Amino acid sequence: MKLENPARRRFLKTSVAAPILLCNPRVSSGTEARNLTIRKREVPLVGRGYPATEIWGYNGEVPGPLIRARRGELVRLRVTNQIDQQTTVHWHGLRIQNSMDGVPGLTQPPIDPGDSFEYQFTPPDAGTFWYHSHVNSSEQIGRGLYGALIVDEADPPPVDRDVVWILDDWLLDREARIINGFDHPRDASHGGQIGNTVTINGRIPRDFFIRRNERLRLRLVNAANGRIFRLKFEGHSPVVIAMDGQPVRAHEPQGGIVVLGPAMRTDLILDCTAESDQRYLVIDEAYGKPYELVTLAYGAGDPLRTEPVEGLPEMVVNGLREPDLDDAVHLDVTFGGGVHGGLAGASYQGQWIDVRGLFRLGKMWAINGIVGASESRVPLYTLKLHKTYLLHLSNETAWPHPVHMHGHHFRMLNRNGEPEPYQPWLDTVLLGPREKADVALVADNPGSWMFHCHIPEHMATGMTTILLVT
Ligand code: C2O
Ligand code: CU
Repeated sequence: MKLENPARRRFLKTSVAAPILLCNPRVSSGTEARNLTIRKREVPLVGRGYPATEIWGYNGEVPGPLIRARRGELVRLRVTNQIDQQTTVHWHGLRIQNSMDGVPGLTQPPIDPGDSFEYQFTPPDAGTFWYHSHVNSSEQIGRGLYGALIVDEADPPPVDRDVVWILDDWLLDREARIINGFDHPRDASHGGQIGNTVTINGRIPRDFFIRRNERLRLRLVNAANGRIFRLKFEGHSPVVIAMDGQPVRAHEPQGGIVVLGPAMRTDLILDCTAESDQRYLVIDEAYGKPYELVTLAYGAGDPLRTEPVEGLPEMVVNGLREPDLDDAVHLDVTFGGGVHGGLAGASYQGQWIDVRGLFRLGKMWAINGIVGASESRVPLYTLKLHKTYLLHLSNETAWPHPVHMHGHHFRMLNRNGEPEPYQPWLDTVLLGPREKADVALVADNPGSWMFHCHIPEHMATGMTTILLVT
């Protein structure tokens, strides 16, 4: 019923209309704690004559305030909960101390309605990160509890504009209200919730204005629950310079298409070298139904400079510890379950249950044959501090899963036995149906770390576990 939403078509189209400001830099500084108050508020998500949408937002905004920090400098954030559910905040991709990781029941007690909690951490890496709720995530992230967190380089690559686009999708009714259909069993057993309305920075995007020969750093963040984006920039050749916050050798993405699974980030250099007074579409090609995400609209005036910027910036790496593959412990991590997954059954709360029994209990997924329960704190593996681990990830399901590890980045070595080009450092790897990947890391951050699929509907129904580093 949800997918028949009559608003779908209309909402997914973009048209020529008033410009909106897609870049919204704000600076946080000093040693005072910055306040993030979680509240409900109505915002013009759809705009253009549609009613406002009630969202849940940090400081009532969606996305929440852009947090800018500096590598090695303390960040203090006081989170106050003014909704009627418990919550926590997870600082996704930041390799910080375990007690600040924001996982309820594992690293901290949840923040009750009316209560506050102060997070303090010192970001070790410069790059593009994000923050989001880690309680009842399908609904809380789905209603808007997320924002971008940027750690600036000491010497950032020179660009004309540094722009953040947080992509999200929403399931709205005709009155632009959020449909209260979170954690629907159909979404949970398939690919997670896919909405009918796509936003950039919490608004349906209109034109994004640029000037000829302008160089942009475009930081893309996918904050959607289940939607994977495959973005094509007509008339442009974006160059990837960082993934999941970590610099990578500058390269054009395969086929010119930037793929972003849930929770993933990509930093692009976008040289705007097309024609003045022309319009170019950014198209999302995922799901076989391409649509215009946003239009790059060139001004009619003079170019910003007469010639395009030459060469690509050198990114300074964050210096993560390189895995020692000759001395690595190999571990298998196998993802099973879901519709068409062929899973016979799995262990849930210490008992083996067949798949029909599991579905009846609302559990759809397992890791190494164990249905992850958020309340269970039993680690799948215990990792020795400073040791290298080579994880053999295997997706035995019929669905894609963005697999996320807390507290660490891992080096992406191989996909389906083929060496991965550029071998990026990632905190989230998108595993396609029946895909395998080998990733390696040095377990250098002590604590109990969640390791889970980032589609909240999968996480809530079993695709989660814990790696203990000690
Ligand atoms: Cu961004 Cu446990 O997640
Ligand atoms: Cu998943």
